[in-house]
Amino acid sequence: MPVSPEPVIRVLDDPQRACAELLAEQAGRGGSIVLTGGSAVAPVYTTASRLEPNWRKVTLWWGDERCVRPGDPRSNYLLACESLLDRLLHLPSQVHRIRGEAEPPAAAAEYDALLREATLDLLLLGLGPDGHCASLFPGSPQLDVDDRLATWGPPGLEPFVDRVTLTLPALRSARRIVFIALGESKADAVAAAFGGEISHDVPASLVRLAEVPVEVLLDRDAAASL
Ligand code: 6PG
Repeated sequence: MPVSPEPVIRVLDDPQRACAELLAEQAGRGGSIVLTGGSAVAPVYTTASRLEPNWRKVTLWWGDERCVRPGDPRSNYLLACESLLDRLLHLPSQVHRIRGEAEPPAAAAEYDALLREATLDLLLLGLGPDGHCASLFPGSPQLDVDDRLATWGPPGLEPFVDRVTLTLPALRSARRIVFIALGESKADAVAAAFGGEISHDVPASLVRLAEVPVEVLLDRDAAASL
């Protein structure tokens, strides 16, 4: 296994604020930003929209999407609309929504083709309690997809709907990779992902094989087992 750069871990009183600030800075500079789903990021996106209301220079992507309609409460696109896009003064020049309403293989193939033309500047990722990130779940065959930038598969955790997800080569290609994890329920996953061996059992740890060091924003509870 190639040597990977050490994760840059920041244990903060307010990791969501820190994440919002780096997101707003990137939005002000422009480029391709990849959003995540999950419970940690709605406040991040809302604060970022206040810090930087002009996203005209941004091309927006998602790291994964549930295979549901865009108006479905489980949609990561809807999460971003409600917490970010609906609050901006100027929308991103391009919004590449993963078409969750389409057949998963078609939606994944479409996104793969779009991603081939892209350079990802900032990738945001959450961390599941099982160590998953995006919709790459422990032991899943999607972890071994290395000839495409997007793929699809069944869920490993709720909500139990199929997912479209960026693959590890796509995630690792980002110029900047930032994880955010909050709360004691993530402490073991954080320790495994960023303090343990790189392993298929912990998909987030596999992102550490990127050329850039992954940055990890934690509160004290999530960092408790490091
Ligand atoms: C999703 C996310 C997923 C999420 C983690 C953490 O589609 O659900 O992309 O990867 O980031 O599951 O989510 P929580 O912060 O809600 O635990």
